[in-house]
Amino acid sequence: MKILITYFSQSGNTKMIAEAINNGLFTEEVDLKPINEMDPTEFGKYDLVFLGSGVYGSRIHSSVVNLMKKVTEFPTKFVYFCTHASLKLYQTPFVKVTRILEKNNCTIIGKFDCVGENKIMSLESRMQAINSIPAKERDKALKDLKLTEGRPNEDDVKNAKKFAESILQKI
Ligand SMILES: Cc1cc2nc3c(=O)[nH]c(=O)nc-3n(C[C@H](O)[C@H](O)[C@H](O)COP(=O)(O)O)c2cc1C
Repeated sequence: MKILITYFSQSGNTKMIAEAINNGLFTEEVDLKPINEMDPTEFGKYDLVFLGSGVYGSRIHSSVVNLMKKVTEFPTKFVYFCTHASLKLYQTPFVKVTRILEKNNCTIIGKFDCVGENKIMSLESRMQAINSIPAKERDKALKDLKLTEGRPNEDDVKNAKKFAESILQKI
């Protein structure tokens, strides 16, 4: 089976998960490429695509959506993966891509997400943001911030690899 893993990653968190997924798929023929190296005409040669991104303003990066708009031939099966700084994925970050895939009769056969420390914003600006929220919510936000430190961690990487293996068993 020919598999593509393609992703956008600003600070490396989603890239780390993409690589863990790649490790889980070692029995297959896999191409692992950042989204900016993808040609929209080459999607048709894959049986399955893992599409990943960090979450920015509740959505995946626009470069992923823009590329998907230009795809000429769609594989039938897609898997989503993303990393996000909130401890739970509250958003529906893939909403725009899902619309494109549904129009093209693709099936989303799996989703993976995990926490990724926000290394793009300095700790100082993250603290400033926390200090601007109501005092009663501040303690929880501080605790949550602490819990994102060092994520994705070893467990996240293991989980991503296992997730990839479970996808292979599904198809
Ligand atoms: C500008 C910006 C906006 C962000 N918006 C969100 C958000 O809406 N929800 C969230 O959970 N995390 C948000 N984050 C955190 C990132 O999703 C998280 O750190 C992710 O792991 C980054 O992935 P990357 O290292 O692959 O770029 C944001 C980060 C930045 C820099």
